[in-house]
Amino acid sequence: MSFSLPEGAQDFRDSCELRTLQLIDELTHEGRLRDSMKYAVSAGGKRVRPLLAYGAAEAVGEAGETLLHVACALEMMHTYSLIHDDLPSMDNDELRRGKPTTHVAFDEATAILAGDALQALAFQVIAEAPGQSPRLLRCQRYLAEAAGARGMVGGQAQDIEMVGSQPSQAELQQMHSRKTGALIRASVMMGAVSSGNPSISQLHGLDQYASALGVAFQIRDDMLDSLSSTEVLGKTSGSDIANDKPNYVAILGMDGAQTALAEQHQLALDGLECFSGEAATLQCLAEFIVQRMH
Ligand code: IPE
Ligand code: IPE
Ligand code: MG
Ligand code: MG
Ligand code: MG
Repeated sequence: MSFSLPEGAQDFRDSCELRTLQLIDELTHEGRLRDSMKYAVSAGGKRVRPLLAYGAAEAVGEAGETLLHVACALEMMHTYSLIHDDLPSMDNDELRRGKPTTHVAFDEATAILAGDALQALAFQVIAEAPGQSPRLLRCQRYLAEAAGARGMVGGQAQDIEMVGSQPSQAELQQMHSRKTGALIRASVMMGAVSSGNPSISQLHGLDQYASALGVAFQIRDDMLDSLSSTEVLGKTSGSDIANDKPNYVAILGMDGAQTALAEQHQLALDGLECFSGEAATLQCLAEFIVQRMH
């Protein structure tokens, strides 16, 4: 797969990784809880959500200090969702980002608390970010809505309710757009509003891009559960099948999933029509998301 990020995006990803760990050090007390938070956040993640925020900032404004904090908050929120998703009462997975999951490396109570703490920290990091208050407040609203009962957590609840059932494609898409799509959409919108003054039509275009890409991201994740190996994924392949999860491949077959993926990809690219070169990173990330092997 030919995929390389523009240099600025790579540098931003590295800065975000470093700053996220620094913020945890600055804003928590030493001890087992902090260690578990840093363990979960540490190297191994693709950092797609910070990169999407960067790409959106580049499309409508410029990437500064505010954006870096927003990106760290997104990675904290996402990492919390992974820690909880892996818990024995959820997907019961033992490998994440190439390492034992947080509840295995520490213990279940610590993993629950590490997730709780990362979620709260995400909001604190935005509240304390350098930048204009109205922009930060908008970011917090996007994040709260995406993470909560109408977004990710609601989607995770649907995922559990659907175990063992045969949902329609429309029901699956709706679940995917909440459990994974909502935070992907928020990443793009937060990148844009934290770092520029996007016009209404730019915001509409970015919303279409991000909403479609969010669904595409989870369709590809579902495909990789069957297509890729545990070693490449850094998480246990075949986990959805083992848990009888309502995933795109299980319901539509690999060809059906591929067709749905291509449709969402096209819809995402159509959303970028009102941009030209300034959306290069967003275009590149869309390619990566639909072709990735991990
Ligand atoms: C995995 O997310 C969970 C889903 C929402 C599908 P990522 O594939 O972005 O995981 P990391 O951050 O790279 O580990
Ligand atoms: C998880 O979906 C979505 C989240 C909100 C974390 P999955 O359960 O498919 O994610 P993986 O495959 O474990 O990363
Ligand atoms: Mg899950
Ligand atoms: Mg899972
Ligand atoms: Mg999955």
